[in-house]
Amino acid sequence: MVDSTNPLAAKRIVLAVTGSIAAYKAADVASTLVQLGVAVDVILSEGARQFIQPLTFSALTRRPVHGNPIANWTVELAGHVTLAAADLVLVAPATAQTLARLSLGLADDLLGMVALATSAPLVVAPAMEHGMWHHPATQEHLHRLRERGAVVIGPGAGRLASGASGDGRLAATGEIVGVTRAMLGRAGPLAGTKVVVSAGGTHEPIDPVRFIGNRSSGLMGLALAQAAIDLGAMVTVVAGPTHLSMPHAAEIIRVETAEEMLLKIQGAVEGARVLIMAAAVGDFRPAQRFEQKYKKANSTSGLTVELIQNPDILATIQAPSLIKVGFAAETEHLVANARAKLERKSLQLVVANDAAMTIGSDESKAILIALDGEPEVLPAMRKTELAAVIMDRVTELVTNERGSRTAMWLDHQD
Ligand SMILES: Cc1cc2nc3c(=O)[nH]c(=O)nc-3n(C[C@H](O)[C@H](O)[C@H](O)COP(=O)(O)O)c2cc1C
Repeated sequence: MVDSTNPLAAKRIVLAVTGSIAAYKAADVASTLVQLGVAVDVILSEGARQFIQPLTFSALTRRPVHGNPIANWTVELAGHVTLAAADLVLVAPATAQTLARLSLGLADDLLGMVALATSAPLVVAPAMEHGMWHHPATQEHLHRLRERGAVVIGPGAGRLASGASGDGRLAATGEIVGVTRAMLGRAGPLAGTKVVVSAGGTHEPIDPVRFIGNRSSGLMGLALAQAAIDLGAMVTVVAGPTHLSMPHAAEIIRVETAEEMLLKIQGAVEGARVLIMAAAVGDFRPAQRFEQKYKKANSTSGLTVELIQNPDILATIQAPSLIKVGFAAETEHLVANARAKLERKSLQLVVANDAAMTIGSDESKAILIALDGEPEVLPAMRKTELAAVIMDRVTELVTNERGSRTAMWLDHQD
């Protein structure tokens, strides 16, 4: 991981696990957050210790697991006071008992003490039986917690541990981690900045069941969207067909064809500062789209599909205050082709990479070419890592422009 460009590497959270049958799922939450670079301090309630051992969490987080606030107090750790300095307190799973305790402000256990002492955001992911969840007492406690600014994730509906079906399932790890990341990024350098990212390929229909597409997975665009969220941006993703899950805390617009993508991006860039075109937009589409499935028997000698050009989205979208970032996936003359694209489409930054090696792969070896300056040759890295590096450069572009605008404003005041 390129830690200097990973904003999560500087974050520390408290993960409080309470006595729900879903406590085992908290191990996955802890592990995922640690892999993202977050330092995770786990508090296990007495109830949770009946379901899962501290060793699981100390092994996953490589940090001590906290519990009894008095017996385990040390000068070095300073118990709840040190834990309260975290960037966020996440309670997952949160039992009905714990929600009640937090809502009332009881301080008879370590989590209660930390929750009162901290000024960090509180995020709770409840898990319990359908009846417990819908009981007015639980709902009143949640209402009070929400009023005080707590963020509630889930619960979902489905099969419960009792075998019954209903509300009360702990939200999926992806959702808990996604919301946590968005909360941690809130005050980042792109806070208040709207960023539009396109992702995936396009499908250009031949008939109702066939299309012309490409191998794009959508991974690069979705990684960029997540990296922008980690820096506090308000993100809109315009995504072509992809099986990957969308980032939480982003506005998602799904499209199929290049023409649809252009239309949706034109709408999405209203009020945006940055447009990143990571989608592999099909350059051509069939001139004719058959209304019914084209039958093999219709042309025994074969079928010729005439292709016409699709609109060029990056070149079409022109807004004076919009920072445009493009991708150049080329198979030859990488830098020259990328620089030509930068100038032709008035981009501020272009990410050049080898089309054959990049499209559909988890990794990319990219060269960053900015409007002014030498090409920056990056080593091969995972697309999630590359996304963090690109967003770091985009943040520089945004903050430099903010700086020069302030300077212009100050000049006008003279
Ligand atoms: C097998 C079993 C499963 C339980 N699962 C849940 C649950 O999913 N949600 C919940 O709110 N309480 C559940 N409870 C009850 C809590 O463990 C109990 O209310 C406990 O006091 C919670 O304390 P804590 O929130 O401090 O951990 C369960 C109890 C048992 C015996």
